[in-house]
Amino acid sequence: MTELFGEIDPPQRMLMGPGPVNAHPRVLRAMSADLLGQFDPEFTTYMNQVMALYRGVFQTDNRWTFLIDGTARAGIEAALISLVEPKATVLIVRSGRFGLLLSEIVERAGGNIVTVDAEWGKVVPMAAIAEAVARHKPAVVACVHGDTSTTMAQPLDGLGEICRAHGALSYVDATATLGGMAVEVDRWGADIVTGGLQKCLGGPSGSSPITVSDRAAEFIFARRHTEKGIRAADAADGGRPRIASNYFDLAMIMDYWSEKRLNHHTEATTMLYGARECARIALAEGLEARFARHAAAGRAVVAGLRGMGLTVYGADDHRMANVTGVYIPDGVDGERVRTRMREDFEIEIGSAFGPLQGKIWRIGAMGYNAMKHKVLITLGALEAVLRAEGFAVKSGAGVDAALASYS
Ligand SMILES: Cc1ncc(COP(=O)(O)O)c(C=O)c1O
Repeated sequence: MTELFGEIDPPQRMLMGPGPVNAHPRVLRAMSADLLGQFDPEFTTYMNQVMALYRGVFQTDNRWTFLIDGTARAGIEAALISLVEPKATVLIVRSGRFGLLLSEIVERAGGNIVTVDAEWGKVVPMAAIAEAVARHKPAVVACVHGDTSTTMAQPLDGLGEICRAHGALSYVDATATLGGMAVEVDRWGADIVTGGLQKCLGGPSGSSPITVSDRAAEFIFARRHTEKGIRAADAADGGRPRIASNYFDLAMIMDYWSEKRLNHHTEATTMLYGARECARIALAEGLEARFARHAAAGRAVVAGLRGMGLTVYGADDHRMANVTGVYIPDGVDGERVRTRMREDFEIEIGSAFGPLQGKIWRIGAMGYNAMKHKVLITLGALEAVLRAEGFAVKSGAGVDAALASYS
């Protein structure tokens, strides 16, 4: 007989890494609600509410604001596969792992990549982006707002203006910052911005909020080739090349989220409930208050780490509010520390990727976890573990510095 294993009963961990973080209990409760059919009027009302709520979260008036079913990467793929036509020139702004991910996706979409790069730990100056746009005249410019691999936030003021002046459409991956730092879609003038729930929005991963400007939607609808089984007899296709993915075809997904309700995938009901509650919580708190809460938690993490005598990674003036990189001190085994944090304190902190692997830890305080007591508990635990691992830290130094930063 097949073994049934035990009922799911995970340990009570505090997830203080670069995401996922613990979901807000209200989000988990919303996700236990009963299922509805995807064309049930109650459910389509929820879909419309989700559109309205995420306009608030994205600080945009964009009509086309909805969810992509899948993790944040699904939102990224949907945006890029729908924007990038074969052989189109795409400028990618890169300074970390997630900038490289954009390249990877655009390569697969058949785009012709040009890049403007900064060293990991730094950001690309807007003047360098402007110069690259003027030189390469790309059809699309793609960048990451907060790259969790480096913990740096790329300034994006002026991006839209530069792109519009050269006829380019712009895409921003705001997975790691949406709901925790200002993601000002309309002020940036960005054409498509995507997010995820599992970072500052305090939900589980599995749904990617997306917002699309009217001009990007017009371009995407010009690539519309509705699949045969659902198209109306008189449906007219757009003249531009068909989008290479069916699942991530934004033209069909927007038709599904429109009054047409043209069947595409079966909407992930439970994830939509969760995403809806994440947005309700964020907007009820107020975006400014929420950004301030994340900024205070980030400042306290930095102060606490420095108070312990550790060296914080990256440029201070471009630090993300919600995740902080810190060098693993010489002679300390980073993985042993993470294991002791987990086993002795039930706290998860993050390791790192690529050139930073084994060199830094990443400590997050975001969404439901961007709270003073969780920051202090994490710093206190790290101090204790570091001492046990032979690194000299004055008892209480990190917690005191973090407390002082809060007051
Ligand atoms: C900046 C950024 N983009 C994209 C992703 C990918 O998100 P997901 O793992 O939900 O697909 C992450 C995840 O850590 C991220 O930090």
